[in-house]
Amino acid sequence: MASLTAVGLQANASKSFAEKLANTKTVLKEALLAHSRITQASSLGAEDVVITHLLESLKAELGLARFPADVFVLNTGKLHVETLALLANSQATSTLTWRVFEPVQEQAIQFVKTRGELAMRESLDLRKACCHIRKVEPLGRALDGYSAWMTGMRAEQSAARANVHAVDTTDAKITKYNPLVDWTWGDVLHYIVENNVPYNALHDKFYPSIGCEPCTRAVSLGEDFRAGRWWWENADGVSAKECGLHVKA
Ligand code: ADX
Ligand code: SF4
Repeated sequence: MASLTAVGLQANASKSFAEKLANTKTVLKEALLAHSRITQASSLGAEDVVITHLLESLKAELGLARFPADVFVLNTGKLHVETLALLANSQATSTLTWRVFEPVQEQAIQFVKTRGELAMRESLDLRKACCHIRKVEPLGRALDGYSAWMTGMRAEQSAARANVHAVDTTDAKITKYNPLVDWTWGDVLHYIVENNVPYNALHDKFYPSIGCEPCTRAVSLGEDFRAGRWWWENADGVSAKECGLHVKA
């Protein structure tokens, strides 16, 4: 029986869910066999806990002498307590190696000192400067030495993501896998409920998309999936509502 949590109520597998799940596993297996060092980017959001869970299952199933995948989190210093709690729990219980990257402290401190605690709300340039210090620069360190990475991006998340592919080789230096590209939000939550996967408590407080605390709010019924991210920005611009992890600023 579905639980009376926001997650339980929204868990709803699409008709082709079994096929999508099989395709996702195929993409992940091929990625694991093709790369000797591959890493999963996890924001500790629903999509990411699903991918980690699938990787843990594949680790047990494939029984490789050396499992090529690990997980990394960009701890921006501005994550919600709920996200940090799930990170600690994941590090304690996961069969995978977790790597945590933080911003260069002097840069983060200097930015807050000169621009203020809520500078990101003042202009797009300041918001991107903050994202650069806290996310984009650490991302470079997280991907250094890896030939592939995995993300939880889905085509349904926004118009800008409609063209995301399961395997993206646009960057010749590093392949990007988006194994849940065709999953719906209902599919993601269905997998979590069916498999009892621990998830971010924010999802039960109507935060579908997980970001930094000052830049993310809950969404109301009928609001867009990413409406709670940088809600003061206009979604029309190509790089508005994107932090530079996936779209170059
Ligand atoms: S963002 O560009 O707007 O921040 P979003 O929150 O939709 O991205 O997440 C898309 C994917 O980017 C996640 O599924 C995850 O793979 C990666 N990601 C986002 N935030 C982080 C983070 N703090 N640490 C690691 N990966 C992240
Ligand atoms: Fe800074 Fe907000 Fe970007 Fe987080 S999401 S790095 S707090 S601007």
